[in-house]
Amino acid sequence: MALRSIVTEGDEILRKKCREITDYNEKLWTLLDDMAQTMYNAEGVGLAAPQVGLLRRVVVIDIGEGLIELINPVIVSKSGSQVGQEGCLSCPGEWGIVERPSTVKVEAFNRNGEKFELEGHELLARALCHELDHLDGTIFKDVAIKMIDNEEVTANSQKRKIRIRPKKD
Ligand code: CO
Repeated sequence: MALRSIVTEGDEILRKKCREITDYNEKLWTLLDDMAQTMYNAEGVGLAAPQVGLLRRVVVIDIGEGLIELINPVIVSKSGSQVGQEGCLSCPGEWGIVERPSTVKVEAFNRNGEKFELEGHELLARALCHELDHLDGTIFKDVAIKMIDNEEVTANSQKRKIRIRPKKD
């Protein structure tokens, strides 16, 4: 595994549409491993392939409940609404308030080319929308209700830390 450098806003690659994966081979597995390592190293909850300079429909997510690898993911349904804070590893130091669905259902393929379905609520739903947007050249700033300053981020982060823990009910 190797760390890859994260492309930042301003780079054209973040604005392009990614191509589907057709070959589930070692090259893909290395990309997935590298993306996970890069995401954990940067302390992000998600990373999309264009953020490491590759126009491929590949996403990794970990909201603190384990690694999720998504290849050619598609949102098949969404419902509800949540308004909350978002940042992006490609826009360091910038935060915004974004409205997202509270539940999304995604169809994707795993690293062996097997199709699966995933339903995400709250933070996972937010991460899925954010990362899948990257595959079509959209950054959270494009869809943010407003950007927020550092003082507001601190206040919101404390709330988010509580919400990040999986609910046991
Ligand atoms: Co992002």
